Amino acid sequence: MKNITSTLKKLFYLWRRTQVPIKQTNKISKIDNLIIFLICILISIISSFKLLLITPLNFSEIFSWLLTFTEVLISSGILILVSKKENPTISSRQIILIITLLLAVQASKLALSSTISPLSIIIPPALIISQGMGSITALAWVSIASLNWPDPAIAINNNLFFILLVCASIVSLLGGRIRSRAQLLQLSIFVPIGALLSQWIFIGKNKISLINEQEFDFPKGDIFSDSLLLAIVMLFTILFIPIFESIFGLLTKARLLELADKEKPLIRRLSIEAPGTFEHTLLICGLAEEATRMIGGDIDLIKTGALYHDVGKLHAPNWFIENQDGSKNPHDEIDDPFRSAKVLQAHVDEGLKFAKKNRLPKPIANFIPEHQGTLKMGYFLHKAKEKNIKINDNDFRYNGPIPQSKETAILMLADGCEAALRAMNINASDVEALETISKIIYSRLKDGQLKDSNLSKGEIFLIKRAFLNVWKRIRHRRIQYPTSKNNTFS
Ligand SMILES: [Fe+2]
Ligand SMILES: [Fe+2]
Repeated sequence: MKNITSTLKKLFYLWRRTQVPIKQTNKISKIDNLIIFLICILISIISSFKLLLITPLNFSEIFSWLLTFTEVLISSGILILVSKKENPTISSRQIILIITLLLAVQASKLALSSTISPLSIIIPPALIISQGMGSITALAWVSIASLNWPDPAIAINNNLFFILLVCASIVSLLGGRIRSRAQLLQLSIFVPIGALLSQWIFIGKNKISLINEQEFDFPKGDIFSDSLLLAIVMLFTILFIPIFESIFGLLTKARLLELADKEKPLIRRLSIEAPGTFEHTLLICGLAEEATRMIGGDIDLIKTGALYHDVGKLHAPNWFIENQDGSKNPHDEIDDPFRSAKVLQAHVDEGLKFAKKNRLPKPIANFIPEHQGTLKMGYFLHKAKEKNIKINDNDFRYNGPIPQSKETAILMLADGCEAALRAMNINASDVEALETISKIIYSRLKDGQLKDSNLSKGEIFLIKRAFLNVWKRIRHRRIQYPTSKNNTFS
């Protein structure tokens, strides 16, 4: 009996550890909500008004119009909910982009669907959405865009509908994962080829003879020219994705990887003008990447965010200990804890200015203030207390905000552990290293720095293990191997 109780207790403890706090989604202003609602109404009108043009108009026609109108309005609402669920920090601009693309597609169906294949209308927007907002949002968008056809007179061929769904789903799934522009180009070539072959097999095989070009057509147009058009529209979409990125604040994987390039001018400046900070940054990238991989977070986002988190130190590199190579410490010279605290806060404020100047996307810029949160500047607070000056503890805290995502919270923890782990004795045991990590993480937790981050207790446990693993790697690297005079090449 005792065994059962303790097992149940253990299970309950494990279950509690895995529970993630409820995350509040971004608030959207009333005006934006109204704009979004009006666009949804417009989509519903465009998708259903043709049903009212049937003469003579009787009750059943009005009823089917009302049904279609409501169906499209509800599906637009579901689409918005899905996008919010997949991207809790989605902005109103991005929601407007998703539904405006739906509006454009419904309008294009009215104007063009009798002349061009629906593949060219639906697949390119799906690529933009999957790149910027993720695969699930793109799949939801594709299903709504494929199911609602505003013109009842145009009956879409069943096989073509199936090919459309398969191609659009492939683009949605791969688009969310693709990590370079080259892979995007490959997608824009292989999907149209796939569409061409499948249309040829399922729709036009009786009509196509590869020898006689004249017969290379089918009732809804030419399979080959439709696929060519799809390839061209997809290539243009890829060309315009950077413009969508800057207008709607989209953060695609390709953009993240471009920003993570260490040859970027701001990162080059950091490595030359603040080499200590650059080294600290690289170590943090390693810690944060491992921890994010453990909890299944966005690795590309944290790698890039970590790279830029301390760029603000460029405003005065020698005021930070890691860049002082034995020279005088300016903080000792001024001997004023208040001014020193202002210099520390400035690395956040100046960092945000650098981010704005270099047009860093918001999710990356968020790492700059959130990695410091509202942490205490312990050393200078202690100094001020020593001088017996009347102080308010809040004067020695960073302005915040505290981390709002799992990734920025991991960066805060990595930032706190990095110096301690680096300073640890090479002979320290794993238990000692884990104790050091746990102490630092616990202090952040107790200070309320992680309460908005949505990290569960189980995830915090995994983060500790990840930091320990990285520390073990660092220690291994630091062990000096004995070199023999005769064997210098091994
Ligand atoms: Fe910092
Ligand atoms: Fe840092």
